[in-house]
Amino acid sequence: MTAQARPSPAEVYEEYFVPAIFDPLTRLLLDAAPPQPDEGVLDIACGTGVVARRAATLVGPAGAIVGMDLNPGMIEVARRLSAADGVRVEFRQGDAQELDLPDGGFDRVVCQQGVQFLADREAGLREMRRVLVPGGTAVLAVWQGPERHPLYTAMAEVEAPHLTAFGLAVTMEDLTAPFSLGDPADLRALLTEAGFREVDITEASIDARFATPERFVERLEYAYAAVVPAFVEDPEMFTQYLANITSETTALVEAYRDGDHVIVPMHTHIAVARN
Ligand SMILES: C[S@@+](CC[C@H](N)C(=O)[O-])C[C@H]1O[C@@H](n2cnc3c(N)ncnc32)[C@H](O)[C@@H]1O
Repeated sequence: MTAQARPSPAEVYEEYFVPAIFDPLTRLLLDAAPPQPDEGVLDIACGTGVVARRAATLVGPAGAIVGMDLNPGMIEVARRLSAADGVRVEFRQGDAQELDLPDGGFDRVVCQQGVQFLADREAGLREMRRVLVPGGTAVLAVWQGPERHPLYTAMAEVEAPHLTAFGLAVTMEDLTAPFSLGDPADLRALLTEAGFREVDITEASIDARFATPERFVERLEYAYAAVVPAFVEDPEMFTQYLANITSETTALVEAYRDGDHVIVPMHTHIAVARN
């Protein structure tokens, strides 16, 4: 990666991870409780907007979609993509734990792989419920635990000591955060304690298909910039770190290689809850 042509982590996320993981998952999420014509939908922790854009096509011209995310880089890519597609979504930067939105403004809230990253999950779910109309629906996808995702866990075990060697304060916990809310009983308790009723949790799986296996490790590591901002700020450190982990991580990834793809099974819970 030259400094000149360096994409942002959000661009890497959109280019490499959305087609493999988040686009197929969006179909499962929205099939679980499809947005209806004319509804107002809020996509919390919307990333580059894959769920919001598809929801916009379902609610039609009389519906309204808002996408929000903490990361301004994600919001920038989301705005660019919806403008290019001619899809009407309002994207705004904000914190899911303290939504800058009025009470009861939405018929539906969706959140695909976002809740597990919140430092205060209880606050995030209370906010989710606050902005829903009475009788509104929340639909959440949250990955199952690390034991169901052995490639990522094994990679984190390789990565953690190498990151520490650079003086970076990144723990195994940080690296496995996507899988940190894997117990459906915990997810149910969070939703119930926030005041949701009729909580229904199902399991779903996808085979994430990543093109260009030889770039898998580099792309994955670079997209980690959310937990390791130094990767964006110091390209030389990133290059050196990649060189240090490559032999060990490549061996792990090879086991998932199938021709010109890396295929990684991923398992989620999908929760549908009523306000
Ligand atoms: C794995 S991504 C999922 C993005 C998107 N929902 C998708 O399906 O592609 C997790 C997202 O959560 C966002 N996020 C983390 N903490 C947040 C917070 N406190 N408030 C809003 N968004 C947050 C991150 O910026 C990131 O975009």
